[in-house]
Amino acid sequence: MHSRSPLAAAAFFMVFFQFSASPGFGAGPLSPSAQRGQTFMRANCAGCHSIDKVSESPLAAAPPLRTLHLKYPVESLQEALAEGIITGHPTMPEFRLDPGQIDDVISYLKSLEQ
Ligand code: HEC
Repeated sequence: MHSRSPLAAAAFFMVFFQFSASPGFGAGPLSPSAQRGQTFMRANCAGCHSIDKVSESPLAAAPPLRTLHLKYPVESLQEALAEGIITGHPTMPEFRLDPGQIDDVISYLKSLEQ
């Protein structure tokens, strides 16, 4: 094994990008609300959707969440998140979030737009 193999470099960059969304490292600080949103989405959405600025979604059919704002303002998801996203989501589990969680998710989605 050569220590400078391209694979080792790729692994390094994957780790780097994973941590670059953390406050004080790379991408700049997230607000506390956006951090909570990120934690929530890492637990509940990241199994299918990419929730960062660079990676592909684990499930090809699930759009990376950073692309949502290209289609509509992310604020317009507020209602859908409160009522449970089901439309257009046959294969996605239904989520119902409380208002605090919705603010957090929207804050994090907005942080992906920059
Ligand atoms: C089990 C896999 C799965 C999980 C978990 C999941 N999704 Fe999805 N999601 C999908 C798929 C697949 C689609 C595309 C559905 C379609 O196009 O019909 C989708 C589509 C969406 C869309 C609509 C995108 C658009 O084009 O308008 C939103 C918004 C969304 N997901 C948000 C979320 C959020 C927020 C979470 C976490 C709370 C989440 N999803 C968790 C599979 C998932």
